[in-house]
Amino acid sequence: MITMINEAKDYILSKSHLKPSIGLILGSGLGSLADELSNSVNIPYDEIPHFAKSGAIGHANELVIGELNGKIVVAMKGRFHYYEGFSLEEVTFPVRVMKALGVEQIIVTNACGAVNTSFKPGDLMLINDHINLVSNNPLIGPNNDQLGTRFPDLSDAYSKELRALAAKVAAEKGIQLKNGVYAWWTGPAYETPAEIRMIRILGADAVGMSTVPEVIVAVHGGMKVLGISCLTNMACGILDQSLNHQEVIEVAALVKDKFLTLVKSVVEKM
Ligand code: HPA
Repeated sequence: MITMINEAKDYILSKSHLKPSIGLILGSGLGSLADELSNSVNIPYDEIPHFAKSGAIGHANELVIGELNGKIVVAMKGRFHYYEGFSLEEVTFPVRVMKALGVEQIIVTNACGAVNTSFKPGDLMLINDHINLVSNNPLIGPNNDQLGTRFPDLSDAYSKELRALAAKVAAEKGIQLKNGVYAWWTGPAYETPAEIRMIRILGADAVGMSTVPEVIVAVHGGMKVLGISCLTNMACGILDQSLNHQEVIEVAALVKDKFLTLVKSVVEKM
């Protein structure tokens, strides 16, 4: 694993001399943030040794390294999902590579469904915790102590300090931010109405098909995490209407401006 990580890192460093300290994982419809980087280099995933290839609609498939508001960042424009058939090792490999590149803080974003009925499509939510509803974990298997501890503590997985910073920045910019728990569901089928009622009873405010594996690996690697969700729709069964991916992409595009403003201003102060 370490050899694979180093091969990917060395390839990336051969394309860009910049040393990123902040990582960004950009969810469905939110990839345009990567276009805001200056002095940037775009590296397609399929060029990078040991990276998987993503085919999800609404995602580009490249790593972008550049400057954003005075910080050097590495952004994933598009991510690998478990529902695409990738192993959790493949899903989280880029997080390992980010750490090897020098990333200490990571902003993980996603598009997801609102389970909390007081939320509405187009809201942004600061993730304060997660529930892993998938019977899998990216750390299953032998532990490599060079990468992290066998039993990582997730009590501050979504860094209190970074959440406070994001809340402060949002208030300054007049951006309303919800707060809540994100539940990870494998997909690719959306949940049923009964499953959404269950997920609400379990204590989640939002549900989606990503984020949790990357966050677990980021914490394992000792990184600080900020999680931001874009609520693109009310989860299944809340409204008398069907769900589709087109709507998810369209709503994510509508919140683009406030999302970009928030993340860029947070990055500046990280
Ligand atoms: N459920 C799961 N994943 C999602 C949803 C949803 O309602 N919306 C966007 N991603």
